[in-house]
Amino acid sequence: MNFLFNEEQEMMRKMVRDFTVAEIAPIVERMESGEFPRQVLQKMGELGLMGIPIPEQYGGAEMDFISYIIAIHEISKVSPALGVILSVHTSVGTNPIVYFGSEEQKQKYVPMLATGKYLGAFCLSESSAGSDAANLKSKAIRDGDFYRLNGSKAFITNGGEADVYIVFASTNLKERSKGISAFIVEKDTPGLVIGKDEHKMGLMGSRTVQLTFEDMKVPVANLLGKEGDGFKIALANLEVGRIGIAAQALGIAEGAFGHAYEYAKERVQFGKSIAVHQGVGFKLAEMGTAIEAAKLLVYQAAYLRSHRLSCGKEASMAKLFASKTAVDVTTEAIQVFGGYGYTKDYPVERYFRDAKVTEIYEGTSEIQKIVIHKHL
Ligand code: CAA
Repeated sequence: MNFLFNEEQEMMRKMVRDFTVAEIAPIVERMESGEFPRQVLQKMGELGLMGIPIPEQYGGAEMDFISYIIAIHEISKVSPALGVILSVHTSVGTNPIVYFGSEEQKQKYVPMLATGKYLGAFCLSESSAGSDAANLKSKAIRDGDFYRLNGSKAFITNGGEADVYIVFASTNLKERSKGISAFIVEKDTPGLVIGKDEHKMGLMGSRTVQLTFEDMKVPVANLLGKEGDGFKIALANLEVGRIGIAAQALGIAEGAFGHAYEYAKERVQFGKSIAVHQGVGFKLAEMGTAIEAAKLLVYQAAYLRSHRLSCGKEASMAKLFASKTAVDVTTEAIQVFGGYGYTKDYPVERYFRDAKVTEIYEGTSEIQKIVIHKHL
């Protein structure tokens, strides 16, 4: 395994770093007030960032998976909210069509998604089916050339902003996971009702909504794969998506660490900078070590995925460890800032609020342990 990025990956890192300074950092405050970053997403589309690992023939940049993870990692250091918008759009909003779509579906949807003209979303969770995703109750009944979908979805990232929704519903409720099918749903489909915006603890500027399907008619041509393939499509894409969320968590930890480190050097107490006090110096050493360990797990999973090798265990390990690192490091970053860290005058409280959900979405830490245990 090579621990150094190649030339193309370094170029991606530099390009995204420059972009975060020029385009993302200036809008972080506005996103914190709830503004969805439409214009930045459009610019990201123009730069090829909305379809990094997608084949060129479908409008993507056709770069390796590591480059995609670099982009989420770098963006999340500055804006974790933008990190999740990109991760959900690509890993679970676009990839299901790339990997499981018919040629016609790919031609119709992927170029629009990969160039950022469309935004993607993934609709699996329901109010009573979160970790137990196979227990979903949304129904899809075949009616001639259409399916009629009824039900509702919860915690849909990019919901309300997305143009294309990958929707999971049961075509046979008696069959549990084997009765679930996946559909491509366009935002203007009659019967697709955008519900309540969740008032979240963090990740302001990313949208999370409830969705309802009221006798929503979806053409049979928009069935992804075959009837009953849905759960495997969901889990296969979540497996890869979890590397993206792990990279987001890593970015959060590094973002908060950078601020804490700079502050510790400047802040003077008892006549010397607090970084020189061993209590703070040891804290920084532990934070830095956890970040490096998380980085190795994240890029190991990304490396395996890039080489089309099995990565289910490593993806879950990366997400489990990087999300815990994000929570631990952001907590300690506030401690380094002391009372100032508890105010909105410094960014560490934002990273702290953004970190927690990485232990919850795309499979809670407990679910990651179930997956890891199955692989051991
Ligand atoms: N790829 C392909 N197929 C897979 C798979 C994978 N990675 N993992 C399992 N499968 C298959 C299994 O082989 C099985 O098929 P067979 O019966 O033919 O062998 C089928 O899927 C069902 O598997 P299980 O019996 O293991 O399913 P389960 O009901 O016990 O659930 C679980 C397993 C791991 C708990 C799963 O339900 C899970 O991952 N739950 C968490 C759900 C989740 O991550 N939700 C995230 C929502 S999206 C989100 O959060 C996005 C966002 O906003 C950021």
